Amino acid sequence: YVDPSFSAALIAWQKQHGRHGLPWQKSREAYRVWLSEIMLQQTQVTAVIPYYQRFLETFPTVFDLAAAPVEQVMEHWSGLGYYTRARNLHQCSKQVVEKYQGKFPADPALLQELPGIGRSTAAAITAFSYGTVAAILDGNVKRVFARVFGIDGYPGTKPVEDNMWLRAQALLPAQDIGAYTQGLMDLGATVCTRSSPKCTLCPFQPRCVAYAQGRTAELPVRKPK
Ligand code: ADE
Ligand code: SF4
Repeated sequence: YVDPSFSAALIAWQKQHGRHGLPWQKSREAYRVWLSEIMLQQTQVTAVIPYYQRFLETFPTVFDLAAAPVEQVMEHWSGLGYYTRARNLHQCSKQVVEKYQGKFPADPALLQELPGIGRSTAAAITAFSYGTVAAILDGNVKRVFARVFGIDGYPGTKPVEDNMWLRAQALLPAQDIGAYTQGLMDLGATVCTRSSPKCTLCPFQPRCVAYAQGRTAELPVRKPK
């Protein structure tokens, strides 16, 4: 599945048309990147922004967060939903302080051992903070891959997901992993949307199987009943 023109097209698109002014893009500090990625796991960008800013004012470093009582952390999360994320966030901050002296590891395999951090989130954090070349695969990326490569089969099943992870790894760029990773997220959120994708604005339109076959409404395959 190796194809350098995939990442080249996406990186060029991200630099020109991707999102740039988001609050968590102003710093590569791993603590800030981690906090934003956890908040963004199940919550929209516009809802996250005020929480992200208030959270950082109250807990400016991983040491402040680790030292805070869990009740105070829950109070600051209140309204964001999926409260397991907040408990894991607090536990994770304590482990980063105890095991790693407050410095988040640059190896996604180590980050993935920490509470609340899955494979894709670990890769996103290390890509944005440290430039580590590692693959993400969230719901948006699965949708883009299913369409560009014409992948039939529900992406929630193990064989389809394994296939997508292999592609995600093979397509990684040697340079510009931050712009590439942000590009995948941005394309899925703003162009290759669930309904009515804006294919005329898409850098992958010339190579997109779903577009060529008029199947953008059918891919990705929905969860079988
Ligand atoms: N969703 C998950 N991570 C994100 C990010 N870094 N920017 C925008 N949306 C996201
Ligand atoms: Fe998605 Fe359309 Fe781009 Fe294909 S051409 S990746 S369906 S936006």
